[in-house]
Amino acid sequence: MRAIAQRRGALALALALLAAATSARQTAAHARARSALSRAAPAGRRAAVRFSAVDARRDDELGPLHPTVQWLPPLGSEGPDEGSAEGSITLPIFPLGSVCYLPFTSHGLNIFEPRYRALYNDILFNGSRRFVVTMVDPLTGRLAKTGVVFYLDELKEVSEQTGDSVKFVCQHSVIGCVEIERVLNPQVWRTRETYLKARVRQRTEPCEPDAPPCPLETEVAAAMERVVALQAETNEMPRFTRGMLKALNVSRAPGGEALWRTVGLWHALQEQRVLSVQAQMQADISKRVVDHLKAKGKAIEGGQVRLEDLPPDVRADLARIQEGYRAQLEELAHAPYGEPFQLLLQADGHEERLALFLEMVNGEAERLARRASLQKLFDKS
Ligand SMILES: *[C@@H]1O[C@H](CO)[C@@H](O)[C@H](O)[C@H]1NC(C)=O
Ligand SMILES: *[C@@H]1O[C@H](CO)[C@@H](O)[C@H](O)[C@H]1NC(C)=O
Repeated sequence: MRAIAQRRGALALALALLAAATSARQTAAHARARSALSRAAPAGRRAAVRFSAVDARRDDELGPLHPTVQWLPPLGSEGPDEGSAEGSITLPIFPLGSVCYLPFTSHGLNIFEPRYRALYNDILFNGSRRFVVTMVDPLTGRLAKTGVVFYLDELKEVSEQTGDSVKFVCQHSVIGCVEIERVLNPQVWRTRETYLKARVRQRTEPCEPDAPPCPLETEVAAAMERVVALQAETNEMPRFTRGMLKALNVSRAPGGEALWRTVGLWHALQEQRVLSVQAQMQADISKRVVDHLKAKGKAIEGGQVRLEDLPPDVRADLARIQEGYRAQLEELAHAPYGEPFQLLLQADGHEERLALFLEMVNGEAERLARRASLQKLFDKS
């Protein structure tokens, strides 16, 4: 399948990884900048498929009480149109893969496909400057019912500089959350003659400035503190700084902004972890190959080695290295890609979202606690 849009900044993302921020403000800004750089290196996206497959299995085992992602019917198999509900509007849809985008983040996209050039032309022409981005189920291709609204902040026409391989470079802010009621032209998904449009309903969080703080807020804060302490104890990289805790706020601020910003930090950390594990694996693989070449007295030419030129024992070692890391990657159950974050997006209000987020943070605390006790065991022996 042809990629719809290239994501920018994957490299910068990887480099930002190890630069631990020093102050709370900086940590927050970094995380925001990182999520602004959009999500996925191709390898990460491949991993996404596996993670959501794992999650889907677990959901089945846990039964109907555990929330699962709400998907629209497969495109082209919609039931009869029941007409539009009050307050619904029509917006273009731009599905961007099996990734969940979060409110209060910003993202860059490179646009080259003709149907999406048309989309940008249309939303600029009528001044609405917005479209809906929703997650695609990696297993079935269905669209998630809950998506976010991308607002076009800036568009640069770059056909000349790129020899027409990229037409527009666009910057967007995520300004809201919608529920998709109905895709109006599902047939164009297959033909690609134009972009999808849907009738959507704005989802607004009730604004209750006087509502008492939800007890779960304290629990989330405590769980985050535990994670930060365990990260330091186990020397986890990447990790949050202690200063980050000061910036932490999961209160019921208008529109849920405070909680979303914290979720954004969490998301950025998980994203960095996946990249970090991948980088370590790459380094181990290179080291094994270089050791082999050195032992054979061979020069390393231009860093290019073909797998089929390596002897069986080295190849077996490489397979073992990959296998070892695969377990680690699978352990990243709340990887930044896909379903866990989509569940937060579709959650019905502040409390439900807090409960889901608490589960994520507690899961991570447990993982780190297991690691800490393992390390202690090794230290003793
Ligand atoms: C602007 O154009 C888009 C794409 O055709 C459409 O979905 C949207 O409803 C239009 N908005 C307004 C305000 O006309
Ligand atoms: C969190 O943010 C809200 C709204 O911006 C504010 O009223 C509240 O005092 C903040 N809480 C903490 C602990 O900083």
